Amino acid sequence: MTTNKQQTALIVGASRGLGLALAAEYLKRGWQVIATVRGSARTPLHDLQASAGDRLEIEHLDIDVPEQLDTLRARLKGRVLEVLFVNAGVAIEAEKPIGDVSTEGFTRMMVTNALSPMRVIETLDKLVVPGGAIVVMSSGLGSVANNVDGGWETYRASKAALNTLMRSYASRQPEPSRTLLLIAPGWVRTDMGGPDAALDVSESIPLVVDVVTQQTGRSGLQFLNRLGETMPW
Ligand SMILES: NC(=O)c1ccc[n+]([C@@H]2O[C@H](COP(=O)([O-])OP(=O)(O)OC[C@H]3O[C@@H](n4cnc5c(N)ncnc54)[C@H](OP(=O)(O)O)[C@@H]3O)[C@@H](O)[C@H]2O)c1
Repeated sequence: MTTNKQQTALIVGASRGLGLALAAEYLKRGWQVIATVRGSARTPLHDLQASAGDRLEIEHLDIDVPEQLDTLRARLKGRVLEVLFVNAGVAIEAEKPIGDVSTEGFTRMMVTNALSPMRVIETLDKLVVPGGAIVVMSSGLGSVANNVDGGWETYRASKAALNTLMRSYASRQPEPSRTLLLIAPGWVRTDMGGPDAALDVSESIPLVVDVVTQQTGRSGLQFLNRLGETMPW
């Protein structure tokens, strides 16, 4: 991949938490960043614009609304991405065992964490240059093999579904010229991770971006943690 020209990353779901930190990290590394929020409210991402200026472009996308995805695709027509990073995700009724989870909660979690990220990829993947990277924020909880202690049952299922759908997507690529990554960022203190999580955002996201950078150029799909270690499916 060319390194002497401005590289562009699209971060989907960057209003706060890990997505916001991803946008900040790519900006810090000199990249052009297109980052999405949903709704029209001001978010912490907007505060980054004071220092980033034109290198940060804020777009709007609720990943669960296909019409908004079509609009974004039209707005980005002709753009070239070195990295597409789908970060958006939710944890709904996460503490409940599956028997207590509402149908609505289960459906929303599966749609937002598994179906919608794949729709984003299927819709925008052609913007990613050959040799670029398509990255999805998975979770260590998405590992079926590592699920020996339960907890966060529906969330785990949604990330395991995401991982499986990425495997199917990867198997359909005629020429696997793009790097495909599922990332487990660690348990991080965000609104989702909560105050008791093991890691500060600053202990996760720079390492995640390092992993993406190191892996870019390798073809095929990998499920990796923030240290670049292979996660068991
Ligand atoms: N924190 C952890 O310990 C941890 C561990 C493993 C994996 N992850 C994963 O990392 C990702 C980010 O998590 P986080 O900890 O930063 O969570 P967070 O603080 O709750 O932030 C979630 C982000 O996703 C966005 N989002 C949710 N639903 C969306 C939708 N339908 N369309 C567009 N954006 C949407 C949110 O936007 P709004 O502000 O509009 O709600 C927000 O920007 C998620 O995929 C999560 O599953 C987190």
